[in-house]
This record gives sequence, structure tokens and C-alpha cells, in this order.
Amino acid sequence: MGNHIINLNSLNDTDILASLIAKNLFSKSIVLLWGEMGSGKTTFAKSLCSGLGVQTEKVTSPTYTIANIYQGLLPIFHIDLFRLSSSQELEDFDRNDLITDEGITIVEWPKLILSFLTDEPLINLKFETVSNCTRRVELESNFQDFDKIFTILKKDNIFNNN
Ligand SMILES: Nc1ncnc2c1ncn2[C@@H]1O[C@H](COP(=O)(O)OP(=O)(O)O)[C@@H](O)[C@H]1O
Ligand SMILES: [Mg+2]
Repeated sequence: MGNHIINLNSLNDTDILASLIAKNLFSKSIVLLWGEMGSGKTTFAKSLCSGLGVQTEKVTSPTYTIANIYQGLLPIFHIDLFRLSSSQELEDFDRNDLITDEGITIVEWPKLILSFLTDEPLINLKFETVSNCTRRVELESNFQDFDKIFTILKKDNIFNNN
């Protein structure tokens, strides 16, 4: 359980954060990536997938496909609901099209997926563009499963810059 805000001053920082989170995910984990266009959601998803054993070249934006599925250490569903404008359109999908209980689910533009969620272990990341190279990200989770992430972020200086 926790809440933490970090500035990611480079793509390397984004990689470091994603790698820490990847190490602490497990089957059924859901990662919701909030934030405007260009705020770094897909970039972060790529780094996260890399930490989960997927070659980064295989990870592309699911904006047009809605769902990309990769096989890493576990199955990974990479979802992007940007193109779904209403819960009406969401009705074309089953929960199983968008969420995997056997692996990790990563969701960009996640608002509409909330209606499918009950008590899955969930971590929220809210991205904001600060400048060309800097993104501000707020991590938040109500699940104890992810406590280690917050403990490490609060205690250890894993970023060289802050
Ligand atoms: N610190 C950073 N973290 C993530 N992306 C960054 C960062 N600095 C610059 N960028 C750039 O911002 C863009 C983010 O695009 P993308 O990840 O596709 O955003 P989104 O999926 O949120 O629309 C990429 O071109 C990326 O290289
Ligand atoms: Mg994207």
C-alpha cells in the first residue's frame, strides 16, 4: 500500500523504475498507465515488458490493435483503450480479451477497464509531461502485494539524480 511521486529525468530513469516494478509483479497483477498522449505510457510499458522477459522490439503501441499479447516469463496483455470512446464499445469485448489471470496485464487509457475489475492486485501509475525529457509519475496502490516497490523507492536512491 502506498503512494510515491518521482521525476523521471531520462529514458534511463524510466527503465530503472520499470525494472523495479517488473521484479515485483506476479501472475494476476494489473498495471494501469494513466496520462495524456506522449506522457510515456508505451515507453514505460516497453521497459516493463523487457523486465518481464520480452524483447523490446516485439513491444509496440496497441493503440490500433487494442490488445497486444506477448510471451515473457509469463503471458503479458498490453492493452490500449484510447480508441474506445464509450462503455458501449467496451461491450464488444469480454473480460478475457483484455485481462489475463495467468500473467500480467498492462493497460494504457485504462478508464473503461475499471468496470471489469473486482479485487485484482492493481498498481496505478499516472504520467505527466514536465519537459522534453522529464516525466513526473505518481505511483499508487492499495495492495500490500506491492509494498516492496514503495519501500525501495522511499529508502534506496535508485535514481542517480534525486
Ligand atoms: N523520461 C521519459 N520517459 C518516457 N518517455 C520519455 C521520457 N523522456 C522523453 N520521452 C519520450 O516521450 C515519448 C513518449 O511517448 P509514448 O511512450 O508513446 O507516450 P504515450 O504512450 O503515453 O502516448 C517518447 O517519444 C519518449 O522517447
Ligand atoms: Mg501509448
